[in-house]
Amino acid sequence: MISYIGGKARIGKWIIPFIPRDIETYVETFGGMFWVFFNMDLTKYPNLKTVVYNDFNGLNANLFKCSLEYDRLWNELSKYPCQQLGVENTPKEYEEMFKEYQQEIFHTEFEITEENKFEIAAKYVYVLTQIFSGSKPETSSYTDYKGKYRCKVLIFMDKLKNPKYREHFDKITFVENMDFQEVIEKYDSTKTYFYVDPPYWKTENYYSNHDFDRADHERLADCLKDMKGLFSLSYYDFELLRKWFPKHEYVWEKKEFAKAAAAKSGVKQNMGEELLIMNYGDNVIETPCVGMQLDMFRHDYL
Ligand SMILES: C[S@@+](CC[C@H](N)C(=O)[O-])C[C@H]1O[C@@H](n2cnc3c(N)ncnc32)[C@H](O)[C@@H]1O
Repeated sequence: MISYIGGKARIGKWIIPFIPRDIETYVETFGGMFWVFFNMDLTKYPNLKTVVYNDFNGLNANLFKCSLEYDRLWNELSKYPCQQLGVENTPKEYEEMFKEYQQEIFHTEFEITEENKFEIAAKYVYVLTQIFSGSKPETSSYTDYKGKYRCKVLIFMDKLKNPKYREHFDKITFVENMDFQEVIEKYDSTKTYFYVDPPYWKTENYYSNHDFDRADHERLADCLKDMKGLFSLSYYDFELLRKWFPKHEYVWEKKEFAKAAAAKSGVKQNMGEELLIMNYGDNVIETPCVGMQLDMFRHDYL
């Protein structure tokens, strides 16, 4: 939806063909900006009844709750002035507004209530869309595009009106603001597919309002090993993954990508290898629902 640290805006297209087509419930435990879900062609999942967005960050969960009422969020956002294409001299007040909202959203204590939820969502969008793509929103500086690009607040507002996006918003059944373990326990079943995209190993303190440490990575591995449903887990590779998800028990797929910050023309590409670990596929053993899903999966993927 919006550029975000670790967001799967480009990589989502590689991940989607691995998602089984006959799922009934789709859950993202670490929803972020929900890029994988928004890249899915929903007509290809005829049995899909329940879609669950989850993120431990209350600002993300609130943004998705408000986005389900897309017209109301659009109206709220329309109150905020933003940079104009072709206007080179951006008014100084816009940067002041950005700083004020960044301070309010990330460095002040407040509660999200029924009364302020749209205002908070709009201010969060205002900050997320005016920092360098995918950088840390609580500390990043305002980017003045000097009229060269369309303001990303407006691009997001367009999405709120776009029928393709609305089709996806309308399909979201529950927006949760839980720890991943709680959401797995709540929605796990043999008909559930989880796309799992945790903070990458050693980048854990990138995310707002909470940490994700080694114990959390280990706890996640334990939850996934015990799961009844299917999962695909995104990571950059690190040694412990071989112990937690041995290659003879899980399917490992890898692909090289230019890292987001470097994925621009004229910039030397800093490559990273994306990893997807799955508990279904040809060489999976002891996964209760593999038989049920495998034919569809083979058909789609091979
Ligand atoms: C790599 S990002 C997900 C990006 C997402 N796939 C996208 O395309 O935008 C990881 C997300 O996990 C969330 N998170 C961190 N710790 C969590 C926890 N314990 N439970 C659930 N979500 C958590 C962060 O707030 C962050 O949004």
